[in-house]
Amino acid sequence: MKPLFSRSANSIYWLAIGAVATAIVGLPVMLIAWARTPYATGEQQIVEQPIKFDHRHHVRDDGVDCLYCHGGATRAPYAGVPATSTCMSCHNQVWTDSPELAAVRKSYFEGKPIHWRRVHRLPDFVFFDHSIHLAKGVGCVTCHGRVDRMAQVFAVAPLTMRWCLDCHRAPERHLRPLDQITAMEWTPDVPQERLGRELATQLGVRSIDDCTACHR
Ligand code: HEC
Ligand code: HEC
Ligand code: HEC
Ligand code: HEC
Ligand code: HEC
Repeated sequence: MKPLFSRSANSIYWLAIGAVATAIVGLPVMLIAWARTPYATGEQQIVEQPIKFDHRHHVRDDGVDCLYCHGGATRAPYAGVPATSTCMSCHNQVWTDSPELAAVRKSYFEGKPIHWRRVHRLPDFVFFDHSIHLAKGVGCVTCHGRVDRMAQVFAVAPLTMRWCLDCHRAPERHLRPLDQITAMEWTPDVPQERLGRELATQLGVRSIDDCTACHR
């Protein structure tokens, strides 16, 4: 008598079970892995801006300090983006005819702000404050990377809770002298471990990981 199911049907059956089992275990693993990829966290992604503003030219070639345009960072939670009048303080003298700057001139003379698009954005339930970080010796480059080398700004950090806490639990690894806060190329001339501990004592830096610091 011929068997009811052929040999190959049997192995197809086992293959199917294998595939279902892999999917049940594999899918959540894949989702969890995906949530940590730069794609999901928005890291490395370029945001198209209304004007081709290039940090490389302004910061590196012209040596303009970050705080000239993002002065809010030392005073307030938000670093802010500069008003058109800040751009015009130079661009009413340099590159006055450049088509690249037509939109800047238009914004200035019509009194309508330029709508820069946000690159970094935390969820609303998270509280963040630039000024305390700068006052306690955490520099821009530590969180934003080498902005002076970016044609267009992108996030270099995932901005996840784990990223915040990794530093908060041992901030001395990332502290620098207050006069180097906006420097892109500073490196410590004594071991960071020693300098960090000294600065932490001097500036009274605490290790903060209670929930209410960031979730108010
Ligand atoms: C001449 C003015 C100017 C200077 C100087 C400047 N920036 Fe900017 N920055 C801007 C403008 C305009 C934007 C918004 C457009 C963009 O994202 O490129 C911006 C955007 C940014 C963003 C992204 C903001 C977001 O949406 O999340 C970061 C981060 C940043 N700047 C950091 C820096 C750092 C660090 C320095 C110093 C090394 C610096 N900037 C110097 C004008 C400036
Ligand atoms: C401290 C002076 C200064 C300020 C402030 C300034 N710029 Fe410039 N910008 C320059 C100079 C100088 C150049 C010439 C480019 C170079 O260095 O090659 C330039 C070039 C440019 C260009 C031409 C494209 C390029 O990058 O080569 C654009 C666009 C531009 N600036 C936009 C802006 C905007 C928008 C702001 C305000 C957020 C601004 N600039 C603020 C000095 C300034
Ligand atoms: C401890 C990490 C950290 C440091 C240090 C830091 N930033 Fe930020 N920055 C962030 C985070 C996180 C955001 C997103 C904030 C949000 O969405 O509320 C941000 C947002 C910004 C923005 C977007 C506009 C805004 O204010 O939210 C600019 C511009 C900016 N940073 C510039 C700077 C500059 C310039 C410095 C140094 C003077 C600096 N940052 C230092 C973490 C940092
Ligand atoms: C590279 C180090 C570093 C990173 C990254 C960092 N912080 Fe901080 N944060 C500090 C230091 C240092 C202080 C100052 C502690 C003190 O007051 O002594 C601080 C203070 C704060 C405070 C003030 C707390 C209070 O009670 O006064 C808040 C809020 C805060 N951080 C939120 C965040 C959030 C949200 C993130 C992530 C998006 C973040 N920080 C990422 C180093 C960091
Ligand atoms: C230094 C700042 C900081 C501290 C302290 C902190 N968080 Fe968060 N938390 C964040 C940030 C930033 C996010 C959003 C990004 C993310 O989801 O990773 C977040 C997200 C969350 C979420 C949303 C769930 C998720 O994963 O998206 C929960 C729930 C949460 N935090 C609970 C807590 C609890 C409970 C504590 C205390 C044990 C705490 N947080 C302490 C910064 C902080």
